Amino acid sequence: MPVRLLLCLALLACSVAHCQETQVPSANSGAQNATQSGTVGAPASDGRAIFVLRCAKCHGFRGEGVSGVVSIGGPNIQAVHDPGDVLWAMEVGPSHMPQFPYILSVPQMRAVADYVTKNLAAIPLGGGDLTEGGRLFRRECAPCHQPSVRGGALAFNGINAPALTGKSAAIVAGAIRWGPGPMPAFPPSVLSDQQLNSIVRYVEYVQQPPAPSGTPMNWLGPVAEGFAGWIGLFSLLGFAVWIEWGGTG
Ligand code: HEC
Ligand code: HEC
Repeated sequence: MPVRLLLCLALLACSVAHCQETQVPSANSGAQNATQSGTVGAPASDGRAIFVLRCAKCHGFRGEGVSGVVSIGGPNIQAVHDPGDVLWAMEVGPSHMPQFPYILSVPQMRAVADYVTKNLAAIPLGGGDLTEGGRLFRRECAPCHQPSVRGGALAFNGINAPALTGKSAAIVAGAIRWGPGPMPAFPPSVLSDQQLNSIVRYVEYVQQPPAPSGTPMNWLGPVAEGFAGWIGLFSLLGFAVWIEWGGTG
């Protein structure tokens, strides 16, 4: 136990140190001239410059995603087509993404949202066939993410394949093409755009499954429900016996 704690602390220290290191974005190619003046100076209309300065270190310069096991990273966002979704992410800061309303002005956020959805959105989203999606998911994804999309099975390198509940369609589509961390990437030669969209549709469907018998009980299934039923029954029995004995503990 203390060893694990130490390890955790060490990891934490590393990641903090790394964060500070990466504060200065190592923007390459033509990005420098645009970023020198920082956000305040960046013209509100230059969505690309703001993206390079503020977003690329986590999402990659083309929005292709950056895997970070110890350090920071962000998902592939090439399937985000709605500027409103980008604005939402900047406002809310999902997972460990920072919130931007105090860093960027509204026109700046709009410009980035435009840039992301017009220039980076390379993965078409929409359509898809539920049945095909289920078949493909069981074959390509379930070995790691489990058929019910609730994740948990051990993947390579000891990194857990996460539950896919709460992941937006864009995140799922992006992950398929990108392959974060130990997850394999599925390029169009392996899964066509149509097949990708079928999987996305299936994941969206299982994210809200119809509960098989009343209360879902964390979707542990009918066995767990039956088990809970028995516990309830036995405690009632115990209570009855207690009353029978006069109700004095
Ligand atoms: C410190 C790393 C980091 C930075 C910087 C960052 N993001 Fe993110 N971003 C994330 C993470 C982590 C997620 C959530 C991943 C998930 O839900 O699985 C995310 C999610 C998103 C999403 C997808 C939301 C969804 O669920 O569909 C969009 C769009 C996005 N970011 C845009 C941006 C933009 C634009 C910027 C720059 C203004 C930015 N991000 C800066 C890490 C970052
Ligand atoms: C070899 C095991 C493996 C397979 C196969 C696999 N995944 Fe993953 N997946 C992972 C692991 C591990 C992660 C976590 C990666 C990380 O956190 O760096 C992950 C992460 C994800 C994420 C979260 C991305 C994010 O930014 O939050 C999604 C969505 C996802 N996988 C969907 C899928 C889909 C859809 C398939 C099938 C086409 C699939 N995965 C196939 C292991 C796998």
